Amino acid sequence: SRRRSAVDIAKAKAEGRKIISLTAYHAHTASILDPYCDFILVGDSLGMVMHGMESTLPVTLEMMILQAQAVMRGTSRALVVVDMPFGSYEASREQAFMSAARILKETGAGAVKLEGGARFAETVAFLTQRGVPVMGHIGLTPQSVNTMGGFRVQGRGPDGERLLLEDARAISEAGAFAIVLEGIVEPVARAIAAAPEVTAATIGIGASSTCDGQILVLEDMLGLSERTPKFVKQFGSLRAHIEGAVKTYAEEVRAGRFPEDAHTYADK
Ligand code: KIV
Ligand code: NA
Repeated sequence: SRRRSAVDIAKAKAEGRKIISLTAYHAHTASILDPYCDFILVGDSLGMVMHGMESTLPVTLEMMILQAQAVMRGTSRALVVVDMPFGSYEASREQAFMSAARILKETGAGAVKLEGGARFAETVAFLTQRGVPVMGHIGLTPQSVNTMGGFRVQGRGPDGERLLLEDARAISEAGAFAIVLEGIVEPVARAIAAAPEVTAATIGIGASSTCDGQILVLEDMLGLSERTPKFVKQFGSLRAHIEGAVKTYAEEVRAGRFPEDAHTYADK
């Protein structure tokens, strides 16, 4: 079947079907997710997850393009969405378009994602009017870690709901087909998901079950990451699984039990 597009995500929301998504950075993991996900996000979380960086800020456009190419090769069905990394879109709408165009041209992905609310509505409109489907990302936006003063849950306080609703409305009206709501208290996430003026599909991560869909970082939900936020449910325990395999391998090599005849080439 043909590859899904941003239009299919909008259709899923219109038809009331939950939107399923996960992140992936590699061809092999992406191929496992492909039949089950409406979209796969090549997130800039790859800086932390793959490279052990302290934040997503050092991630470059070249890194995003390389991993997006890998994910495209491993998939045929899911929409692939690629994060615009810090420094690749904030300076101007023109800069944003040039970066987005590189992503779409060099990877074949079907959409980009950028962080920011009302302040980036103009950028979202500029891109969507020029053929680039845009996913927004509001609430806890990791690229703003230095101005947020850490990774904090958003939407608390007297202005919390009003400001986040305004962010969601602004980028939805600017043409975003979907918005990631990250780390947002439940009543505010619920209000955004229910707001009729927010026509973009809401994709929650730490933003309650009221969203139109959900996303998690694959390595977090698989139990491969060392530390995870409260909003992660571990659906697997890959870390223990891998450690068990590595320990057994080391023991068997040490004891001369691996390789066996079955793994050895005979003469002729
Ligand atoms: O980079 C990422 O993985 C993300 C998701 C957590 C939404 O932006
Ligand atoms: Na991201």
